[in-house]
Amino acid sequence: MHLKLEAYTQSLLSSPEIAKQILQKHDKIFFWPGQTLTPQTMDHDKASVAWLPTQTKWRKLRKIFKEQMFTMHKLEASEGLRHEKLKQLRDYLHERCTQKRVVNIGEVAFVTSLNLMMATLFSLDFARFDSDSAHEMKETIQKLMRILGTPNLADYFPVLKLIDPQGLKRGTKVYFGKLFAIFDEIISERLESRSRSSESSRKNDLLEVLLDINQESDSDLSRNDIKHLILDLIVAGADTTTDSVQWAMTELLRNPEKMLKVKDELRTVIGENKQVQESDIPRLPYLRAVIKETFRYHPAGPFLIPHKAEDNVEINGYMVPKNAQIFVNVWAIGRDSKIWANPDSFEPERFLNSKLDYRGQDFELINFGSGRRICPGLPLAHVMVHLMVATLIHNFEWKLEPRMKPQEIDVNEMFGLSLHKAVPLMAFPTK
Ligand code: HEM
Repeated sequence: MHLKLEAYTQSLLSSPEIAKQILQKHDKIFFWPGQTLTPQTMDHDKASVAWLPTQTKWRKLRKIFKEQMFTMHKLEASEGLRHEKLKQLRDYLHERCTQKRVVNIGEVAFVTSLNLMMATLFSLDFARFDSDSAHEMKETIQKLMRILGTPNLADYFPVLKLIDPQGLKRGTKVYFGKLFAIFDEIISERLESRSRSSESSRKNDLLEVLLDINQESDSDLSRNDIKHLILDLIVAGADTTTDSVQWAMTELLRNPEKMLKVKDELRTVIGENKQVQESDIPRLPYLRAVIKETFRYHPAGPFLIPHKAEDNVEINGYMVPKNAQIFVNVWAIGRDSKIWANPDSFEPERFLNSKLDYRGQDFELINFGSGRRICPGLPLAHVMVHLMVATLIHNFEWKLEPRMKPQEIDVNEMFGLSLHKAVPLMAFPTK
């Protein structure tokens, strides 16, 4: 579907076959999001891995992620830090059980996602459950994702550029400013601790790698670039992971028989009162099917990040014009009855005897994207989503608010760059 509005053409593509052509076959033509105004705030587009064109700087940053951060080896080395954060989640849930208090699943998933990422990437202990600062960070990141996903009238009518009629650039500046202040402090503290300690006592994390590169004599990675990079990782990772966990829990609470199946599997494979480990994931096929089904039904990036056509290109008889902004409608692909039986029903069983996976080769399930711009955080997100859902479920029974029936849980979605649950999921953990 094409939509032409003044200076802009937008194309919405909703089939796996066409997604494959865009993201894999013609990926040299559709290789970056193009220049839209909102990400240009504070020159973010000049340093951000998500908004840079697929050229030298972007390649260098992706190489750092691939080789220094998201390898199996690096992730294994930081597993202990994540284990500790998941233990804190368990302890918090036990406390809530004892106090018989309700839990906002989105809030705890957010704090845990943020802590898991901060621990993995920056060896930091970051947010506390129920703290104002964690709540504020969540609001900031969610508002930012909503703004970045809102079409900007000034992109279509350049004459409006200075007026910023929807206040999108002004809003972005405020939220970027808040986050940059936090990241600046993190960088300063680390630089200070580096100056005090020996090289051998340094931490083995992404921040050290980035600072090492920054301090090389011919480095083109400035301290400012590092701030933008951290912003990218945290904003891209926290919200998407939180939403995926919240949707998985929503569907399991709406479908008690599926919840029972996951709990049975966890009890049999892990054993009572034990904490789930990363190495357990391959032994939990039903849990893995639940997560795949959640990704199909509620993809956290419903349209991926927009890609821009650098040239006219014909795809399956359709002409995609040069400069068109392309949205790959992952949400519609996941609900297409030509691809999925009973697409509007949550059925993890469909994945039990299937090899379909979300690592970018099966275009029916591309919630992490595909091709050169596939989500670099996939290996970490895979671990975080499985373990958070398993930790929330294993050894806890969840009760809805009094007199609420499972089918009454709200499933309205709110679209931005990520797909939020419109009404937060609230439930009581019991033992
Ligand atoms: C369930 C969790 C997640 C989902 C569903 C998700 C999904 C996505 C999607 C759809 C894209 C765009 C791909 C495209 O347009 O072709 C993306 C890009 C990106 N993601 Fe994720 N993501 C998740 C978690 C993470 C995590 C944990 C991190 C980092 C810690 C991360 C970092 C990034 C970055 C930096 C990009 C931009 C890559 C580029 O343009 O080269 N994501 N992600």
